[in-house]
Amino acid sequence: MQYTGRVCVRRRMIYYFSGTGNSRYVAEKLAEYTKDTAFFIPQVFERMQADISVTEGETVGVVFPVYAWAPPSVVMEFLSHVHVDKKAFAFAVCTCGDEAGKAMDDLHRLFPFTSAYSLTMPNNYIPMFNTDEPELEREKINVAVQRLPKIAAEIAAHRAVFDVHEGPEASFKTVVVNPLFSMFAMRTSKFSVDDTCIGCGECEKNCAFHVIKLAGRKPVWQEGKCAMCMSCIMRCPKRAIQYGNGTKNRGRYVFPVQQKARQVVRPDAEKSVQSAQSGTIEFINSAEIKTLANPGVTVRRLLSPDNSESRRVSVTEIHVKPNALQGRHVHASSEQILYALKGSATLLLSGDAEKPFAAGDVVRFADNTVHGLVNRGSDEFVYISVTCPPVK
Ligand SMILES: Cc1cc2nc3c(=O)[nH]c(=O)nc-3n(C[C@H](O)[C@H](O)[C@H](O)COP(=O)(O)O)c2cc1C
Ligand code: SF4
Ligand code: SF4
Repeated sequence: MQYTGRVCVRRRMIYYFSGTGNSRYVAEKLAEYTKDTAFFIPQVFERMQADISVTEGETVGVVFPVYAWAPPSVVMEFLSHVHVDKKAFAFAVCTCGDEAGKAMDDLHRLFPFTSAYSLTMPNNYIPMFNTDEPELEREKINVAVQRLPKIAAEIAAHRAVFDVHEGPEASFKTVVVNPLFSMFAMRTSKFSVDDTCIGCGECEKNCAFHVIKLAGRKPVWQEGKCAMCMSCIMRCPKRAIQYGNGTKNRGRYVFPVQQKARQVVRPDAEKSVQSAQSGTIEFINSAEIKTLANPGVTVRRLLSPDNSESRRVSVTEIHVKPNALQGRHVHASSEQILYALKGSATLLLSGDAEKPFAAGDVVRFADNTVHGLVNRGSDEFVYISVTCPPVK
């Protein structure tokens, strides 16, 4: 990673990590209540050019799942690049199946929060335990959902709160057991895939650390970077992934909003095989639209291979904050059409060429054409981008 200095966080931000969606839900809900923006740590980390400074008067939060009574190492590594001023307000929220141990003590060494909470959510660690019974999963989620408005209000008021369920023998678990867990229970060699695998590539797509590569349409796990987040094993539509010997007969869990089945409406489905006039309608519910947030730029993937069966086209809505830049780049084998919806920006073209681009304008870039965009105005710029075929 290249570091070019430090950047100042100008807004209130929540950074989160999540494998199966509990912490993501919490982060996004808190962001909604507190009018902050939630950023997925692996994505921010991958594109980070400089350390982040949180200065006086600013607010920063971190939301993460507890792994073996400690924060996941990706969270700790990321926070070692976040510098929080004593006069800034920092808060932390962890989600855990049962108890957090001294995870917050570990975190505080790097991230001097004023306020910390734990939320008990459905358990996702199936290499050792089964998932919770459906009734318990529902109950845990209901309790967490009900606690969030109060937590958000306390955060907004900058109240100093420590509401963390550490459980018994917390220090022993965090200080002694956690390092052993990291040494012996984080092996990608224990992942395997069985014959029910259909080569759909969901596991590769859902690994935020690019640990999985499909070889001969079957996943292969590289050793080293796996966070043991359970995303691949939980999201395989065929339950074809196992970890060790114990997971075959155990349940699978993903936070409900994200596992909601896509609603595919097939009018007159039987006849559509015969009649060229019948067709297939895909209705994409707003809850199925993924939002990717980077500093200054928020991308809503309206229609993409994530939520659509189409492999020919993707449509995204992009919000560009003042002074944010999308640098010059090309798409080798995709064309892209942009439609400016709101505000104005400047297109960055080949060489040093530039062109104004304002609400109502349309521009098309053929394959291999240099383009980029910068918002030099004082208001947000919003545009729609149509890409054919979708860029991987
Ligand atoms: C590797 C690993 C270790 C875990 N260790 C703990 C733990 O020590 N205590 C606990 O209560 N839950 C533990 N869990 C459960 C998760 O913390 C819990 O299900 C969390 O809400 C998952 O969040 P996510 O859906 O955002 O990934 C563990 C899960 C994993 C994958
Ligand atoms: S998600 Fe499951 S079915 Fe799809 S490629 Fe991976 S292992 Fe195979
Ligand atoms: S390989 Fe699976 S468990 Fe490991 S980081 Fe990727 S998605 Fe998570």
